[in-house]
Amino acid sequence: MAACRMKVLVIHGPNLNLLGMREPEVYGKTTLDDINNSLTGRANELGLELSIAQTNHEGVMVDTIQQAQDNFDCIVINPAAFTHYSIAVRDALAAVNVPAIEVHLSNIYQREEFRHRSVTAPVTVGQIAGFGASSYLLALEAAHYLIGAHKR
Ligand code: DQA
Repeated sequence: MAACRMKVLVIHGPNLNLLGMREPEVYGKTTLDDINNSLTGRANELGLELSIAQTNHEGVMVDTIQQAQDNFDCIVINPAAFTHYSIAVRDALAAVNVPAIEVHLSNIYQREEFRHRSVTAPVTVGQIAGFGASSYLLALEAAHYLIGAHKR
């Protein structure tokens, strides 16, 4: 029987479907499809099973996080604008038994003051911000490390 592969869920928040054309001076020219393709390639190399979701809706993000309960080993999430004010997304992350890693393409601490606060980061294992599209790949490495660490 094949060994059970560890499962990672990637969740992209609002407006990230527009990456590539959305404020390229801030977020770069890489599209969401490009990011998802590199994540899928790296997940295969690492032996991880990857699922990817994108939503512009807060309730859908809450539902997606809730459904991860018992079904995934790690969540990699860019809550986008919800990062800064969604207590519902924060509570969902705190409610499930799945460790999460928060990702941002931009360094939110170098930007407008309202972006300096993340209400979600305190209920995640850690945050990776400021490396453009590579933030996601770094988060996937962190997920791989985390899952390995839990197994030890
Ligand atoms: C973002 C940063 C957020 O402040 C912003 O609302 C986004 C994208 C990032 O990846 O840099 O939509 O999460």
